Amino acid sequence: MIRKYIYGSPVNTGAIVEDIPLSEGNPLYGCVESTSPFCWHYSMNSDTKIFGLGEAVRGMNKRGYCYESWCSDVPRQDEGTKSMYGAHNFFIVKEKSSKESFGVFFESASRLTFDFGFTDYSDILVSCKDTGVVLYVITAEENRGKETALSNITRQFRRIIGQSYIPPFWGFGYQQSRWGYKTEEDVREIVNKHKEYKLPLESVCLDIDYMEAYKDFSVDKKKFPDMKSFARELKDEGIRLIPIIDAGVKLLDGYDVYDEGKEKGYFCKKADGKTDYVAGVWPGRSCFPDFLRSDVRAWFGSKYKNLTDLGIEGFWNDMNEPAMFYSDESLAAAFEKLETFKGKNLDINTFFDFSSVSGSTFNRLDDYQRFYNRAESLDGQEKPMRHDTVHNLFGGKMTQAAGEGLKALMPEKRCLLYSRASCIGSHRYGGIWTGDNNARWNHMEQEIKMLPGLNMCGFLYSGADIGGFAELTTEDLMLRWMALGIFTPLMRNHSAWDAREKELYRFSQKATDAFRSILQLRYALLPYIYSEFVKAALTSDMFIRPLSFDFEDDERSLECQDQLFVGQSLMIAPVYKQNENGRMVYFPEPMLQLTWKDGKLISQKKIAKGDHYIAQPLDSVVFFVRKGKAVPLFEPSMNTAALKHDKYQLAGKGKYELYEDDGFTSDVHLEGRIRILK
Ligand code: GLC
Repeated sequence: MIRKYIYGSPVNTGAIVEDIPLSEGNPLYGCVESTSPFCWHYSMNSDTKIFGLGEAVRGMNKRGYCYESWCSDVPRQDEGTKSMYGAHNFFIVKEKSSKESFGVFFESASRLTFDFGFTDYSDILVSCKDTGVVLYVITAEENRGKETALSNITRQFRRIIGQSYIPPFWGFGYQQSRWGYKTEEDVREIVNKHKEYKLPLESVCLDIDYMEAYKDFSVDKKKFPDMKSFARELKDEGIRLIPIIDAGVKLLDGYDVYDEGKEKGYFCKKADGKTDYVAGVWPGRSCFPDFLRSDVRAWFGSKYKNLTDLGIEGFWNDMNEPAMFYSDESLAAAFEKLETFKGKNLDINTFFDFSSVSGSTFNRLDDYQRFYNRAESLDGQEKPMRHDTVHNLFGGKMTQAAGEGLKALMPEKRCLLYSRASCIGSHRYGGIWTGDNNARWNHMEQEIKMLPGLNMCGFLYSGADIGGFAELTTEDLMLRWMALGIFTPLMRNHSAWDAREKELYRFSQKATDAFRSILQLRYALLPYIYSEFVKAALTSDMFIRPLSFDFEDDERSLECQDQLFVGQSLMIAPVYKQNENGRMVYFPEPMLQLTWKDGKLISQKKIAKGDHYIAQPLDSVVFFVRKGKAVPLFEPSMNTAALKHDKYQLAGKGKYELYEDDGFTSDVHLEGRIRILK
């Protein structure tokens, strides 16, 4: 059952695709203590748990910290980080009795704070200072059969926000990326090395260096003289290119995208409603398309044609929180401030002041208050809204622009698309990667804990930069993270230009052999992953779930925060600590332990319900088939184009219902597309 309440004057975020009647009075759970500013309060019991909030740090159970929904460029994220790149305002309050558990979605375009027992361990306080909020309270359906309340509430929520984005089959292949592949030769070398070391490879991402002067939709002809034939050459080998597109458009007269955007008035404006707002990103001074407007989305989306015409079928959208290095105003203020230090004897205080000046221009709130977006109110009226009050929609609407644009350009095909910033609603148009993480063990752990929340909020196609984007990865971290990455729908090894090089052939021979074997498992599992993903997307299910979502009355499953169900048949318990050769694993039901090594299944072993220490050598992948379930393992291949769909072995019990299609058709449905594997 879903109840809806409106407070203040919220904007239409586009998150909800169903008509839900308005409920009267106080919300069914919690209490709205104030409507302006909005504040919702709920008193927790000592054992209340909170699941959800999508892209957020800390545990699967979010109780005990304070989060903010505010799409942020957060390269140095850690346990203290309050906001990540996405704004995902849905969570479930799990009480002992499933009758008292409920889900809440706070539909809002502006900043929300979620005090989950931070100020007082017993209280949840959700507040919003700016525009209004539409509150949805979701309770479990009585007639849900065996489904847990946690799953059922999530499924109802997912239904009202619409079907999750489904990438093409090749989007599940292994992506190699690095900020620093500058030329065609660089990319060719990556491809050749993967071939030489027999490492499967599906695609290579092109970071900002492929563009001419960081201009969106341009290709630097000096670095990529003939992108079209290069893309074709790679595609003939089953490998695709995935270029990046940034939110900021370089301010440069004579650059067609800028000229057109300026002439048609498509960029975000200052308070006067006339002057384009200017801020610095990769290309220097840039303007920002007002993605909240449908005409601007259609325009920007159509620009992808420049690259689809070259044979490109996949993109990643970046810097769309939007990230801003400086604005004209903040830069001027910084220079002015610097002047004041000239000629002074800088003591400890003034020196710190001095050194903070250049960093002070990054992503400033007052810069976000200097420009406007045209947003739609609930009754369909469009009006200019100061950006900070609708900030959380910007990145998601860029994904919508790209998703709709690509669909218009190639109606018969699904394209690959993922973004950095997001909001609920944008899950229908593309996936997300979880931004600039570090080569740290606790960032791998963070991914394990974040994936269920992302799935709850509809972002099934997601994954982290394997091995860490920044800093110095290590061979063992790469091995462990790859062993996790093969289970995430988006599987990408990406790094910063100054991070340790971490293409899989850069490590010891032993490690390269192990990476090959791990990747072979990815390809062996790929039809299963695709099949489970599509089924989950079409039935509003989660592809990755915590144990508690299937065993909500089992205290141990409820406490378990570092094991995951992957689809209906598998469980994983990744090792995420250095120098540990295995770990304790909790089995809520008897399972079959599979060990994969040297490119094949080397053992199958029954494990009883309960706690077991499971050794997981660095060169192997250990995973588990659930009770009464089966998983098909296909013959590993070098990429999806080479995958043989008729060669498989079945591990586990009974049969498996495999969803299959041509891998790119835009018409995705289950009827007539299930092959029974026995
Ligand atoms: C941002 C992205 C990162 C990318 C870099 C350069 O930091 O998050 O993935 O490599 O920009 O484009």
